[in-house]
Amino acid sequence: MERPTPRTIAMVARLLLLCLAAAATSGGLHAHAQLDNNGFISIDCGFPGQTGYVDNKTTLFYTTDAGFIDADAGMNRNISVEFINPPIPTSWHSVRSFPGGTRNCYTLISLVSGQKYLIRGKFLYGNYDGLNRLPIFDLYIGVNFWTTVNIPKADTAVYAEAIMVMLVDSVQVCLMNTESGTPFISGLDLRPLKTKLYPLANETQALVLLHRFNFGPTDGTVIRYPDDPYDRIWFPFVDATDWNEISTEMKVNTDDRLFEPPQAVMQTAISPRNVSRNIEFTLGLDSFPSDHSLGYIYAMYFCELQQLPRNALRQFFIYINGFLGKTATTIAFTPAYLAEGSRYSLEPFPYSQYMVSLVATANSTLPPTISAIELFSAIPTTTLGTNSQDVSAITAIKEMYQVHKNWMGDPCVPKALGWDGLTCSYDVSKPPAITSVNMSFNGLHGAISPNFVNLKDVQYMDLSNNNLTGSIPDALSRLQSLVLLDLSNNKLNGSIPSGLLKKIQDGSLDVRYGNNPSLCTNGNSCQPAKGGSKLAIYIVVPVLVIAVLVLVPILIFLWHRKRKQAADIGTIGVRLASDGDGNSSLRLENRRFTYMELNTITNTFQRVLGQGGFGSVFHGILENGTQVAVKLRSHSSKQGVKQFLAEAQVLTRIHHKNLVSMIGYCKDVDHMALVYEYMPEGTLREHIAGMQLLI
Ligand SMILES: *[C@@H]1O[C@H](CO)[C@@H](O)[C@H](O)[C@H]1NC(C)=O
Ligand SMILES: *[C@@H]1O[C@H](CO)[C@@H](O)[C@H](O)[C@H]1NC(C)=O
Ligand SMILES: *[C@@H]1O[C@H](CO)[C@@H](O)[C@H](O)[C@H]1NC(C)=O
Ligand SMILES: *[C@@H]1O[C@H](CO)[C@@H](O)[C@H](O)[C@H]1NC(C)=O
Ligand SMILES: *[C@@H]1O[C@H](CO)[C@@H](O)[C@H](O)[C@H]1NC(C)=O
Ligand SMILES: *[C@@H]1O[C@H](CO)[C@@H](O)[C@H](O)[C@H]1NC(C)=O
Ligand SMILES: *[C@@H]1O[C@H](CO)[C@@H](O)[C@H](O)[C@H]1NC(C)=O
Ligand SMILES: *[C@@H]1O[C@H](CO)[C@@H](O)[C@H](O)[C@H]1NC(C)=O
Repeated sequence: MERPTPRTIAMVARLLLLCLAAAATSGGLHAHAQLDNNGFISIDCGFPGQTGYVDNKTTLFYTTDAGFIDADAGMNRNISVEFINPPIPTSWHSVRSFPGGTRNCYTLISLVSGQKYLIRGKFLYGNYDGLNRLPIFDLYIGVNFWTTVNIPKADTAVYAEAIMVMLVDSVQVCLMNTESGTPFISGLDLRPLKTKLYPLANETQALVLLHRFNFGPTDGTVIRYPDDPYDRIWFPFVDATDWNEISTEMKVNTDDRLFEPPQAVMQTAISPRNVSRNIEFTLGLDSFPSDHSLGYIYAMYFCELQQLPRNALRQFFIYINGFLGKTATTIAFTPAYLAEGSRYSLEPFPYSQYMVSLVATANSTLPPTISAIELFSAIPTTTLGTNSQDVSAITAIKEMYQVHKNWMGDPCVPKALGWDGLTCSYDVSKPPAITSVNMSFNGLHGAISPNFVNLKDVQYMDLSNNNLTGSIPDALSRLQSLVLLDLSNNKLNGSIPSGLLKKIQDGSLDVRYGNNPSLCTNGNSCQPAKGGSKLAIYIVVPVLVIAVLVLVPILIFLWHRKRKQAADIGTIGVRLASDGDGNSSLRLENRRFTYMELNTITNTFQRVLGQGGFGSVFHGILENGTQVAVKLRSHSSKQGVKQFLAEAQVLTRIHHKNLVSMIGYCKDVDHMALVYEYMPEGTLREHIAGMQLLI
């Protein structure tokens, strides 16, 4: 009986290192694509430079980790020389360690959504930091807990492996500092699997490898690529005292099975040395974290490697922890000649150890046999990350502006590690979404990223106090939830696009743009934006010409009326305070309303046209029948008096062809309001139609 303890695992792992000892580097290949010919990714973390090398033993191409992780995340270190003598494969020589940040992540891209993959992290401490401090830290796949890495000894190679269905085309592997030492990693492997393999790894659960043993070889041979086309690592389970090795050179049929253990593994097996004994062994589970686990899952592989005489029978029961296995194992099992047969759990079971007994039936003339075993814990992969559109957008923004801070892993999940400057909504029925972005004082330069427009749920966007240049994208007006856009203290130019102006006017959006010296806020002297839509010119110019022809007489008529009214109302020049951003003050030559007048005009504020962070917009009708929109600032408004006045100032300066103009305002001790001309939806079309009738 053999019960591998961490010590034996360490021994086996060390054995592997010795076995693979003859490797050396041969550089020269460039790792432009992440995937190699097999669809594998093999990353040698901490390896210097931008390329990689072919490993002589496995023939696999190992790439550096540049391009898989932010360049400033962690640092490259070499393990201490005493652990490289006797030589061990290059992939173990270096590590990347992460003294800073709670979460550091590798991102693997170009994956196939829906495909099943094996992901493997490798860890050899090797006293790389000279501190002889063995760390413990957590690994996550995306936002789902994977396993805890607990380094038992400086020379122990620790593997973490998971089999999972990828639901999107990329995956992040994150090392989480749990304040028990500095996380580090030696290597990261990704191997695609056929989708039918390991049926218990599905969309909602992944399998985390606990043990994978090959029975038979007594010489310490470790099987992996190219002997296993999926590059699983099969350690030998050695107990030469109790068991005989059986082996064959003949091909074992493993086609079309659920696990496809490799030939080299299936061609060896064991049977008890004393033919009247059973096969018994125990695999410990207690050294693995079970609190995140749904339970354990096994797969055992059998094959009859000997051509038996007619009257011979090898038949046995498979017991697990003293019980007959829950599944098809309740009947006696006879392995088929040169054909792999597997027995595996159909659902996770919550045992704390795994004691296997293979017991010959009374009719059996031969002792039991077994070729290999795998044991996994099942973990849920149901934690939702931030919705993928937001992730792509904010990742592109991060890359464009080279944002560092803690922008690693998922932007919103877990909550405690959400990216600095972002806030998110957490709705149980859908993935988290980004609701505000504050990148003020981030030293941003260059244009405003078009990707901001893809943050569909964003309500507050603060890009103030940066060095942003270029014009303000009108597409920002497509953000339905946006109520505050702060662009102040940048170097933006051009003018405020019409879509945004409209939203400012209907009160749904508060835009701050003070202190952008080249920003043109006076519609009269602004050049039209370069590359502006020709369509707009074709439509607007004729419409304007017609409008002038038709409207001039009307305007003259109105002007006469207004002059008459002016005598009654009086035009008041008001000196508005400076907005504090150095913009000059301005005299508003507009009508000043009293609050009582607004009350009358809006019929006691009955019809609400819109609602924004500052308050509401109401519909009203002036004495002369002009429809107006009254934007009334509420007391609880986040928009300060300064901003309110600044907006009034800008709007009075704007005489935008598509936009209605400001008629007046109200300002007294308790109230502030702006009154605009109101154009109901479709009015412009009606005008044009009417004019056509006139012509
Ligand atoms: C590894 O392969 C390269 C070329 O393929 C060769 O130059 C080098 O000697 C080999 N190293 C070992 C240890 O076999
Ligand atoms: C690690 O060793 C390699 C070669 O032995 C060397 O090129 C590299 O600079 C070393 N890295 C560090 C971080 O010391
Ligand atoms: C073989 O096993 C049987 C049953 O356990 C035992 O009685 C017998 O002594 C063993 N034979 C040898 C040679 O060890
Ligand atoms: C995944 O397998 C488990 C059984 O182990 C099952 O409960 C779950 O419903 C499966 N998920 C999917 C999406 O099929
Ligand atoms: C053993 O053989 C007998 C007679 O052939 C048969 O009745 C019995 O079912 C067999 N037992 C098992 C476990 O196969
Ligand atoms: C953005 O963060 C700065 C501090 O960095 C803060 O002063 C400002 O109020 C924040 N903006 C918003 C909209 O919350
Ligand atoms: C803008 O850039 C200049 C020089 O590149 C720098 O001095 C200044 O601090 C930057 N301003 C902001 C707000 O980041
Ligand atoms: C606005 O700034 C950008 C980049 O700084 C420049 O290319 C563009 O010509 C400027 N546009 C105007 C109208 O000044």
